[in-house]
Amino acid sequence: MINEKLEKAINEQINKEIFSSYLYLSMASYLADLGLSGFANWMRIQVQEEAAHAMGLYDYLIERGGSVELEAVAKPQTTWNNILHVFEATLEHEQFVTKSLNELADVADEVKDRAAASFLQWYINEQVEEESTAEDIINKLKLIDSDGNALFMLDKDMGARTFVAPVIG
Ligand code: FEO
Repeated sequence: MINEKLEKAINEQINKEIFSSYLYLSMASYLADLGLSGFANWMRIQVQEEAAHAMGLYDYLIERGGSVELEAVAKPQTTWNNILHVFEATLEHEQFVTKSLNELADVADEVKDRAAASFLQWYINEQVEEESTAEDIINKLKLIDSDGNALFMLDKDMGARTFVAPVIG
């Protein structure tokens, strides 16, 4: 049986991962509205990744004999200033998720649940990639600035991303 405090913290993290998915779905529609179908595709795959992150925690909680308690999902932002702003907001959000996962791992340590701490380490490692990918896209967008051709090429690259279900844990 999982510790109650840890169970609550995992449930809160499930909500944050589902909100991430919802936020990126909103960003995907904003990008589609800008006519950037490649960027929209990239963001839609991010939506699937976040849903998979939520389900990983959901399944883990059940496996550990805990109860999943889903909360309301907040309305995400629906508009941004421009494409660069979208990815700056993505990075900021991922930094928030990293902080939240670190705090969640602290709870696992506090209640001396080594199995949970080990499981959560996957999520913490994943955040390194998530933040670095967002930073990389921001850097490219800054380099491109107002070069329409370069943006067109990058949009094409972003359109090539396909979803590969993460192997969690
Ligand atoms: Fe599931 Fe991008 O954090």
